[in-house]
Amino acid sequence: MRLFLDRQRRPYSIHTSKMNTQLQNSVVTGGGNEVAIREFQDQDLHDCREIFTQGMEQLISLIARIVFPKYIWILSAWSMLVFVLVIKFQWTAYIFTLLVITCVLFAASLYLNLYMECWRFIDSCLATDLKDIGKCYMSNEKCRMWVAEWNGKVVGMVGLMHNESHKPGVGELQRMSVSPACRRMGIARKLLDELLKHAKHQHFHKVVLTTTSAQIPAIRLYKKYGFKLRTSIPYPQKILSDLQHYCFEFEL
Ligand SMILES: CC(C)(COP(=O)(O)OP(=O)(O)OC[C@H]1O[C@@H](n2cnc3c(N)ncnc32)[C@H](O)[C@@H]1OP(=O)(O)O)[C@@H](O)C(=O)NCCC(=O)NCCS
Repeated sequence: MRLFLDRQRRPYSIHTSKMNTQLQNSVVTGGGNEVAIREFQDQDLHDCREIFTQGMEQLISLIARIVFPKYIWILSAWSMLVFVLVIKFQWTAYIFTLLVITCVLFAASLYLNLYMECWRFIDSCLATDLKDIGKCYMSNEKCRMWVAEWNGKVVGMVGLMHNESHKPGVGELQRMSVSPACRRMGIARKLLDELLKHAKHQHFHKVVLTTTSAQIPAIRLYKKYGFKLRTSIPYPQKILSDLQHYCFEFEL
């Protein structure tokens, strides 16, 4: 199953690096044009899946920065203790080598666990709402997907979802992502403007969203825009318990 998904993903990654280089070139050379926000069209599907995947892939290293420091301290302290014991009792140096190997294996398995967890989430989104964005977001007035277009290229996206799992009058912001080469240009803010305008038009009284404590740029964006943090729940997985699940709300 994973191999199949990985094989499916590879062409996207090749496309991504080419697209990013082109985008970076246009950013460097100025590009010239304004960013336009418009509704999703079927031909945007590939770019949207790509931009979402890029954004979420970066989450792995952001989460690692939160989760790893604690374990590095524990493993370093443990290694020091064994090192002192090896010296004091003249144990064979193999014990210390064995310990170092165990620490490296532990760190590798922690990273792998994190990697798999993030990819499980990405794969599940690509296999559900992002598989057929037209059907999931565009066939019902209460749901919508917008893209940001710059110099003829799709460089950002955001979705508004309302289904039977949501309370009446409540919409959920989903899949916010901007291409790395086009960040800090105010694109996410423009996408938010459009989403909230539509939500108001649909008589929603609230827009909710969930994110993680690792997504610092996203948290700053939502707070700056006026979203209020309502709940903060530690991840259920023990190994990721330093990570929080944040729920934000915007009253319309
Ligand atoms: C979060 C994200 C969508 C922001 O997109 P963006 O187009 O760069 O954001 P904007 O340029 O509109 O920034 C608006 C405000 O957000 C905050 N912000 C955005 N990126 C930031 C960063 N890297 N560091 C600190 N604050 C940041 C700032 O307050 C900024 O206002 P300012 O530029 O006046 O200071 C983008 O970084 C991204 O795609 N990240 C990966 C995917 C992700 O985490 N999505 C959120 C899922 S919930």
